[in-house]
Amino acid sequence: MQNISSYQDAFIDYLNAFITHKEPSNLYEPINYILQLGGKRLRPVLTLMTAEIFDCNYKVALDAALSIEVFHNFSLVHDDIMDDAPLRRGQTTVHEKWDINTGILSGDAMLIKAYQLFENYEPKQFQALAKLFSKTALEVCEGQQYDVDFETRDDVTIDEYLKMIEYKTAVLVGAAMKMGAIVANASLDCQDSIYNFGKYLGIAFQLQDDYLDAFGDPKTFGKQVGGDIIENKKTYLYLKALEFSSQDDALQLEHLYGVNPSDPSEKIETVKQLFVSSGSAEATKTEIENYTKKAFSVLDSLKISEANKTALKTFGNDLMNRNT
Ligand code: IPE
Ligand code: IPE
Ligand code: MG
Ligand code: MG
Ligand code: MG
Repeated sequence: MQNISSYQDAFIDYLNAFITHKEPSNLYEPINYILQLGGKRLRPVLTLMTAEIFDCNYKVALDAALSIEVFHNFSLVHDDIMDDAPLRRGQTTVHEKWDINTGILSGDAMLIKAYQLFENYEPKQFQALAKLFSKTALEVCEGQQYDVDFETRDDVTIDEYLKMIEYKTAVLVGAAMKMGAIVANASLDCQDSIYNFGKYLGIAFQLQDDYLDAFGDPKTFGKQVGGDIIENKKTYLYLKALEFSSQDDALQLEHLYGVNPSDPSEKIETVKQLFVSSGSAEATKTEIENYTKKAFSVLDSLKISEANKTALKTFGNDLMNRNT
């Protein structure tokens, strides 16, 4: 296995070669814009790493890795419309730079391109990849719908929240890794284990994303800090704050999540204070660690080298300590 940055570099070269300048430019330019806006490239790197962990040259996994990243970027374009988000990776979101219709159609085209990339595999692998992709993509839609439904519900439970983030985020991380295992012809047992590793890591990842959305540094985060609070997202931070707070504080929090002020800065500040004073910010950090450890425990029964296990753990720990 190579180091993470060499997988990133190889992936970005492959991505750049995929970029085409075609007409109509209002369909293809936004696609190129979002794909070249940067980002951590976490999912494709996991696909490439996983292929190599199961003794296959990472190059065989490049199309699967690209498919996952194109799908991820499609989901971001549509997610930013749904979340009314102005910023992505430190730049203007597609629907703000162009308009909502452009974001919808460019996103649709990306979803199709993601699927098309599997055509580069032989029938047996094509089928396995396409099947996993379709299942995963539908789950992401389900997760996204729950996320939006929860904005206007006041009885969301922690279990419902965890299911929602498993679907909107974690299954794609699991699928990214399983695709690496599929192209490497790993056993079904190994495919399942690495999927579960990715899924638990993905849950930790979304909890951390929610944490950073409130407490990240605007200079490094790349998205609008406080965006989830503005949109009344029922995150772990919010649900635990309600659980831990006195009745007065809980009522105040619920009230704040029922209003949409034109200047949200005061709402954001008050909510963040309640997240901290209730102990919910700390509890979220602990839960991120718990899910990261849960991911690591899947590795115990997996028959791969100790060096590869260590590499996966380093990757997981780095994700937990990220600020972007
Ligand atoms: C953002 O994903 C969407 C979530 C599932 C939290 P990333 O944090 O991986 O976004 P980029 O690709 O690095 O910008
Ligand atoms: C995004 O969740 C999940 C998907 C894009 C499917 P968020 O809405 O939290 O992602 P960010 O914070 O905008 O990146
Ligand atoms: Mg969003
Ligand atoms: Mg969202
Ligand atoms: Mg978020």
